[in-house]
Amino acid sequence: MLSSFPLSLVLLLSVSHSVIAAPNAPQGQYVPLVRRTLRARSVEEWGEWAKAHREKLSAKYGDTEKRKRSTGTNLLTNQNSDSSFFGSLAIGTPPVSYNVILDTGSADLWVADANCNVTCNGVATFNPTASSTFSTTDLPFEISYGSGRASGTLGADTIQMAGFSVSNQTFGICDSVSDGLLTVPVSGLLGLAFKTIASSGATPFWQALVAGDAWDSPLMAFQLTRFLDDQTAQSLEFGGSFTMGFVNNTLFTGDIEYVDLATTASYWILPLTSLTTQGTNLEVPTGPEAYAAIDTGTTLVGGPTRYMTEFYAQIPGAAPGTGNFEGYYTYPCATDVNVTMAFGGKNWAISEADFRLTQLTQNQCLGAFFDLQTGRSAPSWIVGDTFLKNVYSVFRYDPPSVGFAQLSDAALALNSANTPVPSATIGSVAATVAATSTGQPTAGNSAAPSRLAHPFMMSLVAVWAVSSMAGLVLLL
Ligand SMILES: *[C@@H]1O[C@H](CO)[C@@H](O)[C@H](O)[C@H]1NC(C)=O
Ligand SMILES: *[C@@H]1O[C@H](CO)[C@@H](O)[C@H](O)[C@H]1NC(C)=O
Ligand SMILES: *[C@@H]1O[C@H](CO)[C@@H](O)[C@H](O)[C@H]1NC(C)=O
Ligand SMILES: *[C@@H]1O[C@H](CO)[C@@H](O)[C@H](O)[C@H]1NC(C)=O
Repeated sequence: MLSSFPLSLVLLLSVSHSVIAAPNAPQGQYVPLVRRTLRARSVEEWGEWAKAHREKLSAKYGDTEKRKRSTGTNLLTNQNSDSSFFGSLAIGTPPVSYNVILDTGSADLWVADANCNVTCNGVATFNPTASSTFSTTDLPFEISYGSGRASGTLGADTIQMAGFSVSNQTFGICDSVSDGLLTVPVSGLLGLAFKTIASSGATPFWQALVAGDAWDSPLMAFQLTRFLDDQTAQSLEFGGSFTMGFVNNTLFTGDIEYVDLATTASYWILPLTSLTTQGTNLEVPTGPEAYAAIDTGTTLVGGPTRYMTEFYAQIPGAAPGTGNFEGYYTYPCATDVNVTMAFGGKNWAISEADFRLTQLTQNQCLGAFFDLQTGRSAPSWIVGDTFLKNVYSVFRYDPPSVGFAQLSDAALALNSANTPVPSATIGSVAATVAATSTGQPTAGNSAAPSRLAHPFMMSLVAVWAVSSMAGLVLLL
């Protein structure tokens, strides 16, 4: 997308690329193998051995009703002033941790592999031969996003995150990744939408857990921090939290307002039912044109041309961007832009600080809403982090819905705060499920929506990089 990337920032970022095996990630236990002379066991010894063996195995595999449910938290990192939010997971045996973008707008897990020699420069890559539990399928994998593509082959291994483990999880190992899709220290992407849109055809990690009854409650939730308006923000800052199996009550106040998904499970799609700016109610579409994907992996908010034109018409002095800014709009920096959005329920306000993406010239600021032309089967609106930083968001599997709640003072206090950037943690495993879906891109699956509509994962790193560098004018 935008190609000029300040050198200083690139250097700044590459300093921190050595986050591979986190201190608190389990390192795997090596049991030395020693040959011993066999000695006949007594009946008592056999009895003890048999009992211990059974207990060990039932602790390991359990039966369904005895399997422990659990909850987990993964602390996030905010990269390049709200451009993206990543967490950490671990792959293989012994487990090695990787940073991945958490993306509710797609449904595949993939990481860069060691052969990704050009565009993955500097990111930690996955080495299949180092994991004793890795198996390859040799099936090709390819995924396209709004801002690039990744391809390679499909394999399977044990994936651990926030105290949960899925054995034999299918994921992509990508040797070809579009330039700019991964920014050090991020090695890949964890899709958190439904299997129906998985390019791999594999059951997503989160869905294997929820379907395997590993979670206390069938939901996951996000709280995302804001550093966009912080002139002193570093390239990596504390990003908030991602929870599985529960909502963290200290991060929101009042009720969570859940709205049923507008379509069968694919993306997390809600209907946009109200949009206001500067106190004016704008006309909103009905039917499929109102479908909005709630997408943690997209930085901004995109909508159809006609509605964007109408939206910016409410802001005196706003004008369509040109050149690299085509599809975007500028507006007078002196204007505080007030936006609210509703999805079948109450109006949620977007902070003026999130709307003001960056200052381009002395008087012109860049707005965070852009003109989006999606494919015929993709949702018309993409509601990304510009919106999601303003709410506590809950992605509920059953009944399928997305909920929003008011952020608590404790959550708001994390914006621009001096909280340490989390180190990679995967927690000690409390719940394990097995994912054994083949991941074969069957004929049926290639005809599924995934092929027609591509997932969304969009970030405009260059824009952010500049906005995070106090007062600089963006020259493109
Ligand atoms: C990158 O790797 C691929 C295959 O692994 C190889 O064909 C290609 O020549 C390599 N490119 C560079 C620039 O090393
Ligand atoms: C809930 O959020 C608070 C505030 O960030 C945090 O201190 C606490 O550890 C979180 N609880 C869990 C279980 O993640
Ligand atoms: C936007 O909202 C702020 C605070 O709610 C208010 O002070 C300001 O007048 C509003 N601006 C417009 C143009 O409505
Ligand atoms: C993992 O999944 C693959 C493909 O679905 C299957 O062939 C293989 O037997 C599974 N391995 C284990 C250990 O379950």
